[in-house]
Amino acid sequence: MNKVLVTGANGQLGLCLQEISKLHPTIQFVFSSSKELDITNKESVKSAFETSNYKYCINCAAYTNVDLAESDFEKAEKVNVIAVKSLAEACKNNNTKLIHVSTDFVFDGKSYIPYTENDETNPLSVYGKTKLDGEKKIQDTLKEFFILRTSWLYSEYANNFMKTMLRLGSERSELAVISDQIGSPTYAKDLARVIVEIIESDSNKYGVYHYSNEGVASWYDFANAIFDLSNTKIIINAIPTTAYPTSAERPHYSVLDKSKLKTNLGIEIPYWRASLKEAISLIK
Ligand SMILES: NC(=O)c1ccc[n+]([C@@H]2O[C@H](COP(=O)([O-])OP(=O)(O)OC[C@H]3O[C@@H](n4cnc5c(N)ncnc54)[C@H](OP(=O)(O)O)[C@@H]3O)[C@@H](O)[C@H]2O)c1
Repeated sequence: MNKVLVTGANGQLGLCLQEISKLHPTIQFVFSSSKELDITNKESVKSAFETSNYKYCINCAAYTNVDLAESDFEKAEKVNVIAVKSLAEACKNNNTKLIHVSTDFVFDGKSYIPYTENDETNPLSVYGKTKLDGEKKIQDTLKEFFILRTSWLYSEYANNFMKTMLRLGSERSELAVISDQIGSPTYAKDLARVIVEIIESDSNKYGVYHYSNEGVASWYDFANAIFDLSNTKIIINAIPTTAYPTSAERPHYSVLDKSKLKTNLGIEIPYWRASLKEAISLIK
């Protein structure tokens, strides 16, 4: 039986994996929260791997507060870079394949066509920079890895844009949402399904891959779809990024080209609005 360690298991993606894992009883998942396994503790990471025979490690642990990272570089670097290096080393020493999750924020968003895995990176934020540096640590250490760059994750779990909109929709009659940042909303449960598909296929087509749901949207479009699908009556005003300043700069365009994943791994990708419909039906 394949034994799989999941780090950061109580975050959004980790919780989606916990749910999806129930459909895959032939894989033995070991879910570790940040309390059970702090990935910044090198000794704990080392002994977690040495005492078990993991075929895969799925790293869902990350420092994900994009704005706070601007003033907290040290902590973001500790989790997103240094700890990722320790994980990669532990994987190498124990013949474990690493599946790591990265972000569209490694790009500067100045493109107008979807980003491929070979496109030049240029993160605008501390968060994006640390996530890119984490990718590099894995590539320098390991041969058997999958780095999945994804974007705009939402689900029934943890904090995310969909849940914030649903809450605001029940509290307010009018809302302003940014309309000049374009990306692809991605259901974290779809990403969890893809990760399990990779494990089940036991593919050796290692490398960096892009995964998001199909289609593109602005945050304004995303908000409209959330309110539409949840039958929420609210006035939504489209605003530019300049009207909603944040500490971290975000890419204006971060659509990911997923051709490599579809071709190499034969994965089918749902349209973002279809997945959003599924998520909203479950949250109601
Ligand atoms: N959310 C998005 O829109 C988005 C977009 C693109 C890429 N991503 C990437 O997707 C991945 C999953 O994101 P997510 O939305 O699931 O994030 P999340 O909900 O913030 O979950 C991150 C998890 O990491 C854990 N963690 C933090 N520091 C840790 C440590 N030192 N040791 C062990 N666990 C630790 C957190 O635990 P505590 O809460 O206990 O600290 C939390 O459970 C991340 O790599 C993220 O960079 C996310």
